[in-house]
Amino acid sequence: MPPLVRPPAPPTPGATEMSEPIPFRKPEPEPLVAKVEPELGPTGRPMPVLPEPKPVTEHGQARVVSMCNQKGGVGKTTTTINLGAALAEYGRKVLLVDFDPQGSLSVGLGLNPHEMDLTIYNLLMERDVRLEDVVVPSGVPGMDLLPSNIDLSAAEVQLVHEVAREQTLARVLAPALEDYDVILIDCQPSLGLLTVNALTASHGVIVPLECEYFALRGVALLKTTIDKVRERLNPRLEIDGVLGTMFDGRTLHGREVMERLVQAWGDTVFHTVIRRTVKFSDSTVAGEPITSYASSSTGAESYRQLAKEVLVRWPDE
Ligand SMILES: Nc1ncnc2c1ncn2[C@@H]1O[C@H](COP(=O)(O)OP(=O)(O)O)[C@@H](O)[C@H]1O
Ligand SMILES: [Mg+2]
Repeated sequence: MPPLVRPPAPPTPGATEMSEPIPFRKPEPEPLVAKVEPELGPTGRPMPVLPEPKPVTEHGQARVVSMCNQKGGVGKTTTTINLGAALAEYGRKVLLVDFDPQGSLSVGLGLNPHEMDLTIYNLLMERDVRLEDVVVPSGVPGMDLLPSNIDLSAAEVQLVHEVAREQTLARVLAPALEDYDVILIDCQPSLGLLTVNALTASHGVIVPLECEYFALRGVALLKTTIDKVRERLNPRLEIDGVLGTMFDGRTLHGREVMERLVQAWGDTVFHTVIRRTVKFSDSTVAGEPITSYASSSTGAESYRQLAKEVLVRWPDE
């Protein structure tokens, strides 16, 4: 019988590192000529130079874009208001569509949900209501609004019985295409029939994503929904971009989430990111976009930059 040999005891953690001599490293000599690295933007990619938008001479042939993410609180409504206002500053004629029964977009522009005569609900459900009966000015020059309130929640149920129920929004928005340059639809936080209507009416989708862990959860389902709408209802539909919102570049966490976002979505991610700042909630309370409430704030500048970036991405701009 072989003698019993006790296996060597496992090293106590930390012991070996302690006993090993620390290698002496000569400091690297400073390079004589500083390397010129391209300036990295907040997404970790080189920041492109975005051209100043060209003025437009005539309006029309609107691009319709949905702000879409079935998660709430990710910045859909904030992006709709402020991207719209920034595009209006660049001379674009903008129509915002509040397509969330919570009506946050309408409230964020200073409307009282109980004092609305007609809303998008009436436009969708009543044949004799015309677009111009429902459109109201937003308070921002060059930007109008189709308001909504809780009535819209009934539309989701009633639309189920309609002919071409997924095309209802596209049908009622059609007359607006010749008057506006951009139509932005603020979707509700769900992937139900209202959101499918918004996607069917759109040329593009912008997906705002909060720069937090679990931000990417559910995004696969959103992508499947977009793909299905493209296949079955709206072949022109494309994803215009993924927008990182509520970003905090000072924390490792924020930078890590951004890195994962770029890994998952590549160049679909906008170079522009929207940082976290209380100015957004303040401006909502004031009932106006940050571009006018705090015109020179970082938040306002970021949305102007986003406006430039979308104009580069959109065809015919
Ligand atoms: N970049 C930001 N920094 C800080 N707060 C923000 C930012 N963007 C939006 N918010 C606030 O977060 C809340 C949710 O934003 P909102 O745009 O309404 O999201 P959603 O429409 O996706 O539900 C609002 O109170 C808004 O003022
Ligand atoms: Mg919202």
